[in-house]
Amino acid sequence: MAEIIVALDVPSSQEALALVERLDDAVSFYKVGSPLFTRSGPSLVKSLRERGKRVFLDLKYHDIPSTVANAVASAAALDVELVTLHASGGEAMMRAAREAIGDDGPRLLGVTILTSFTAVDVEQVWAKEIRSVREEVARLTAIAVDAGLNGVVASPLEVESLKRRHGVDLLVVTPGIRAVGDSPGDQARTSTPGAAARAGADYLVVGRPVLEAADPGAPLVGARSRVKPLPESE
Ligand code: C5P
Repeated sequence: MAEIIVALDVPSSQEALALVERLDDAVSFYKVGSPLFTRSGPSLVKSLRERGKRVFLDLKYHDIPSTVANAVASAAALDVELVTLHASGGEAMMRAAREAIGDDGPRLLGVTILTSFTAVDVEQVWAKEIRSVREEVARLTAIAVDAGLNGVVASPLEVESLKRRHGVDLLVVTPGIRAVGDSPGDQARTSTPGAAARAGADYLVVGRPVLEAADPGAPLVGARSRVKPLPESE
């Protein structure tokens, strides 16, 4: 069953911890991204761990191999469970990260094509024509898998083909989750929680739909009811 991760995209650790308290047992897994980590750093991660919460450190590393290897080793010391690095950083960079933490540390996820990107954005950045975003995601995923990463971040629209090609053991984390009628914000490749779960996503990252709700727990109830596996008889 797909698990929901709430993105702590709030401006301060006080607000982050207040949200964690408010959601209480409804959420056990939180994503800390670069804005909050830059502000509140390892002490916020420590506070989350002290509250028994699991942490996805989404800093999307992309640098020379030795720098990323050191960054990933520092992330492992924070006792986080998932860490991201850009697959476009290349095989040597991803392999260095893998070797830095061995197989027992956090699981490493390659960011493929950001869910805010369309085909036009990809073509502009890489100065080449592409057949589809899905093919670019598949190409980057293959490099990430060869480098020994545990999974990738991709849009809900690409999950099914990735699982088909690389098997169920490839972890797929999908942001860009929106209920019907939600604003996409800056996300270009979105899907509902039910569709992402049916496609085989392991983790659904939900940010603004929860953070902007008057009752932040309400969208989670709806999402969770849609990611449950179908009963045997159905
Ligand atoms: O608010 P929303 O639900 O769009 O939040 C999505 C979260 O997932 C944000 O924190 C964003 O940084 C993150 N993310 C993403 N696309 C990726 C990787 C992470 O949107 N490829």
